[in-house]
Amino acid sequence: MPTKTGKKILVTGGTGYIGSHTVVELQKKGYQVVIIDNLSNSHKNVIDAIEKITGIRPEFKKFDLCDFNKTKSFFNKNKDISAIIHFAALKAVGESIEKPLEYYNNNLVSLINILKCASVFGIKNFVFSSSACVYGQPDKLPVLENSPIKKASSPYGHTKQISEEMISFFSSKNKTKSISLRYFNPIGAHESALIGELPIGKPNNLVPFITQTAIGKRDFLNVYGNYNTPDKTGIRDYIHVVDLAKAHIVAIERLFKNKNKKKHEVFNIGTGTGHSVLTIIKTFEKVSGKKLNYKIVPSRPGDIDKVWANTDHANKELGWKAEKNLADMLSSAWKWERAIKESEKK
Ligand code: UD1
Repeated sequence: MPTKTGKKILVTGGTGYIGSHTVVELQKKGYQVVIIDNLSNSHKNVIDAIEKITGIRPEFKKFDLCDFNKTKSFFNKNKDISAIIHFAALKAVGESIEKPLEYYNNNLVSLINILKCASVFGIKNFVFSSSACVYGQPDKLPVLENSPIKKASSPYGHTKQISEEMISFFSSKNKTKSISLRYFNPIGAHESALIGELPIGKPNNLVPFITQTAIGKRDFLNVYGNYNTPDKTGIRDYIHVVDLAKAHIVAIERLFKNKNKKKHEVFNIGTGTGHSVLTIIKTFEKVSGKKLNYKIVPSRPGDIDKVWANTDHANKELGWKAEKNLADMLSSAWKWERAIKESEKK
């Protein structure tokens, strides 16, 4: 059993994909975790899965952070919270273009409510779930944290840009120090195959689409082509979700130890290497032993050609580095897809 740190951490969106992996890593480090999630895109049984992995059941409260009275009443009853990791948000790019106000309302009102409470209840440490999408298509690669922020191509991306700025202004005038982590492309699942990415309906992201095609849930994968890259498919910086989860622990500990150099800091969280879609497919076929059915089709509107991170700042300042390679990421994603199939048989 890990030594207890005596610190209680609020994880909003803790039953989601990245949130659940982060809860596991926090518990392994001896932190007490309380989760708030409205379950709009996740399942309550994730709590059971977390307990199976760590032997500790995280406390769970189901409500919507857009409801200020409920949020305030939660903080009133939990005055011992040392830090907040804020994941809870809507995240589908295409859907955000269809329903812009829903995205602005949900992602920004919940953030405002939680920051108000951080101020009122004196919570000094705040980690925010941001995204590499804030950069758009960078002019120079690998992309650095101080690269220009381009105009957002979707309301989803815009909410991440606004959120980062809001947190930065907020921190400058309050006791709450903050870190925004700009995630590149998280994939893979926990080695236990008890938690992983669970897309509701047809997946938008590449890897769940690959594993669902390989298991027979989808007939074929559309590989978007015509990008300005050597093999014409998009290049991204894929990172194992457990490596990403661990970045949250070092970020929180940096704040606890007052090692931050500014009231609001930003870090790229990726591996520093880009891979094309065809490389992903080839590696997946190798680790799974499955031939993938795919078709090359035109580009997806709004997609950028290529992006990968310069991770020097995170490596040096956080003392964090992604450890898992592409084969680890894809074999864990495949193990997870097979575990889902097994559980559906029951
Ligand atoms: C997308 C979002 C990004 C968000 C991230 C969350 C867009 C434009 N960007 O990133 O803002 O933070 O998800 O995970 O939607 N691909 C295929 N076939 C598919 C699906 C994807 O070829 O069926 C390709 C894409 O062209 C891209 C790569 O796979 O090159 C990765 O796509 P995806 O997993 O959707 O992630 P992003 O588009 O990078």
